Amino acid sequence: MSEGAVKKEEKPRKFQAIRGTRDLLPPETALWNRVEQTAHEVFATFGFGEIRIPILQMTDLFARSIGVETDVVAKEMYTFVDEMQGLPDPANFAISPDEYVDAVQEAIKAGDIQVTNTNLRALARLKSQLEIFHERANTQSTEEAQLKFRIAASQIQFGDSISLGPEATASVCRAYIEHNMQQSPQPVKLYYMGPMFRRERPQKGRYRQFYQIGAEVLEAIRSDAAKDAPKELAKDAAIDAEVIEMLMTFFDRVGLTGTELSINSIGHSADNCRRGYVEKLRAKLIEVKDKLGPDSQRRIETNPLRVLDSKLESEQGIIATLPRIADHLCEDCAAHYAAVKHQLEMRGVIYRENWRLVRGLDYYMRTTFEITAKGLGSQNAVCGGGRYDGLVELLGGPPTKGIGFAIGEDRLILSLQESGKAPAQQGRDVYIAWMGERAHATAIRAAKDLRKAGFSVELPPVEQKFGKALGQADKLGAKYALILGDNEVSEGLWTLKTLVDGSQQKLTEPQLLDFLRKL
Ligand code: HAM
Repeated sequence: MSEGAVKKEEKPRKFQAIRGTRDLLPPETALWNRVEQTAHEVFATFGFGEIRIPILQMTDLFARSIGVETDVVAKEMYTFVDEMQGLPDPANFAISPDEYVDAVQEAIKAGDIQVTNTNLRALARLKSQLEIFHERANTQSTEEAQLKFRIAASQIQFGDSISLGPEATASVCRAYIEHNMQQSPQPVKLYYMGPMFRRERPQKGRYRQFYQIGAEVLEAIRSDAAKDAPKELAKDAAIDAEVIEMLMTFFDRVGLTGTELSINSIGHSADNCRRGYVEKLRAKLIEVKDKLGPDSQRRIETNPLRVLDSKLESEQGIIATLPRIADHLCEDCAAHYAAVKHQLEMRGVIYRENWRLVRGLDYYMRTTFEITAKGLGSQNAVCGGGRYDGLVELLGGPPTKGIGFAIGEDRLILSLQESGKAPAQQGRDVYIAWMGERAHATAIRAAKDLRKAGFSVELPPVEQKFGKALGQADKLGAKYALILGDNEVSEGLWTLKTLVDGSQQKLTEPQLLDFLRKL
């Protein structure tokens, strides 16, 4: 049997989108575009500019900002070592162990392998294994020494640990620092849209590749800010409220109904505010530990605030008896929270207070908020956000305040679809039914002119009988069929058929454009 015949019999593998990822297809993508266009328009009216950030970032950026104990960082990131090409592969020695060690040392010198503690330790181990390897040369234990050398070689990190962005706030802060944005007029208002990645268990409204539309306001803290603390507090509260107002304006403009905005203040990390509260909460949780599930029991140590987030039915009664942060806020945080609520009321934004709203990312302080929408089942949070003063500093930048949000675009679209707000399949304006060589040339020209005027035109690539062409026009949802045969071309009078009622009219080319434009 020839090679070709073997290949023919093998069934080619059928590829499918990776679990938790999906294709977005027309006509749904028209809705995505409309939503994104509305975001561009609404955010611009609030003075925001668009930032486009790389999907790939250093893993450490997320670990440091979102928090190593959070689900997002601990379990859900797509992380890998960004290996440099052209460096020796320890699994396949085409070169001797000596040459291998030399190559690694060269690569470290050249900056191709990072000088990290892990790598320096690995190199030391590699060198001592090399000595053992030489000592045992030509003995029976060479093989074992070689294996140990390979293991030591595999400990070297041949590149940076990088991750697909699970969110964008950390990356925006990184960009703020990298581009010295503290020198631009403050505050800096940025928005973004794009794919994010989290390895979560997929279900309705929860994907591994999902899309966010988000916005962040960053503001360098002036060195004399402490002198006028009440004014600073009032300013922050007004910014928080305006960010939320922008968000609600956007939801209103895209036609999302049934939204519910919940707000809370989680204080700040200083001693007598959140830290004091967390200690009281932990003490109370220890008392009731036996009544809690394993997740909450674990969180008593790692992050007691997250216990408040629990959806477990059996824990709800206990959670209701726990101390509430609102009763433990320091004076400044309490004043800030009161001012945010007042500012929201001034803007006519309706909110609900939820003392259990703590959010799953570590960088928040003071204001936190979440918006739920209808038709989403258990994954009903369509947006989350909050204030994160200090995050930029934590990432090596100057003292900076921050507040922002991210909308889950997939969920927003789902909710719009469930409420019947999705546009139907977009049909063509004109289907050109042509027959004959001369008519073909005229049809090509007509298509060009109509498209230039902004109409959606379908031009069949080959001649079709008029009956078949009209059937095709119908299937594509075309409004009109432009019929071009020999007669039409020689008379210069084209036939336009209105497909809903079958009526026909004869028009010159300028008359046709005029007629269509007036609709
Ligand atoms: P987040 O709450 O982790 O916040 O995500 C924001 C929104 O993204 C969620 O409310 C949800 O609608 C959507 N989302 C999250 N995970 C998924 C998923 N697996 N599938 C579908 N949608 C999802 C943040 O990401 C913060 N960076 C928000 C922020 C900006 N805070 C301040 N600035």
